[in-house]
Amino acid sequence: MDNVTTQTQDKPIVFESPVPKHVGFIMDGNGRWAKARGLRRSEGHRQGVENLKEILEACGEFGIKYVTIYAFSTENWNRPQAEVSFLLSIIDYYIERELDNLDKQGVQLRHIGELDGLAPRLQRKIQKAIEQTRNNDRLILNVAFNYGGRAEIVRAVKQIVAAGIPAEEITEQTISQHLYTAFQPDPDLIIRTGGELRLSNFLIWQATYAEYYSTPVFWPDFNREELRKALEHYCSRERRFGGVKDEE
Ligand code: IPE
Ligand code: IPE
Ligand code: MG
Repeated sequence: MDNVTTQTQDKPIVFESPVPKHVGFIMDGNGRWAKARGLRRSEGHRQGVENLKEILEACGEFGIKYVTIYAFSTENWNRPQAEVSFLLSIIDYYIERELDNLDKQGVQLRHIGELDGLAPRLQRKIQKAIEQTRNNDRLILNVAFNYGGRAEIVRAVKQIVAAGIPAEEITEQTISQHLYTAFQPDPDLIIRTGGELRLSNFLIWQATYAEYYSTPVFWPDFNREELRKALEHYCSRERRFGGVKDEE
């Protein structure tokens, strides 16, 4: 396999095999990061948002084309109301502050999840961000917000039924093409910060053959070097997709 060399500001980073095309991030551990510092959970979320800049820049630098970030799950509505409000307001703030920057960097913003249930003002803001960046193609950034993998599959099934597609014509591709991520490559690597070993309803259809990487590092501390380690780990893994290793 060809080696991939990425020139960075300090030193070139060499990965032993191609970096993943699509990486999903379960950005977990903001609350514990804050607690460990005697701060409020909201401070952890604030710091988590600040961290996105470095990680997205590093993704671009390392040649990753698709990034999906898990920002708010359908289950996160079960948190105390004050925390939910804060999480909703922080996405609003992030778009307001970073949209032009992301646009300049060639990032195409996409939303995966339900807009229904969000305040109309926030819905408009998300739609405007999608519209403004729709022709960018350096990095595709899916923001999973009010997202749940099961809800996504239910939605796909409803669309398929509503379109009158006959049962015998339904294939795996039919389902894939009715998900929010239609026509995007499946994630090759899912990175979870905060140490848990679960998917928490993230990309459950798309990530069936993804490699998983879990690190105890909390999201606000997950930096470019941590990402490099995750990618190095990915590059050392052998993906067989149910087959066998090449004949020796
Ligand atoms: C992840 O951090 C951010 C969201 C779920 C929005 P948490 O808030 O889950 O942080 P922990 O897991 O409690 O530390
Ligand atoms: C997953 O983290 C959701 C996001 C990162 C947005 P959670 O903290 O909500 O997941 P659980 O509760 O540990 O499964
Ligand atoms: Mg958590």
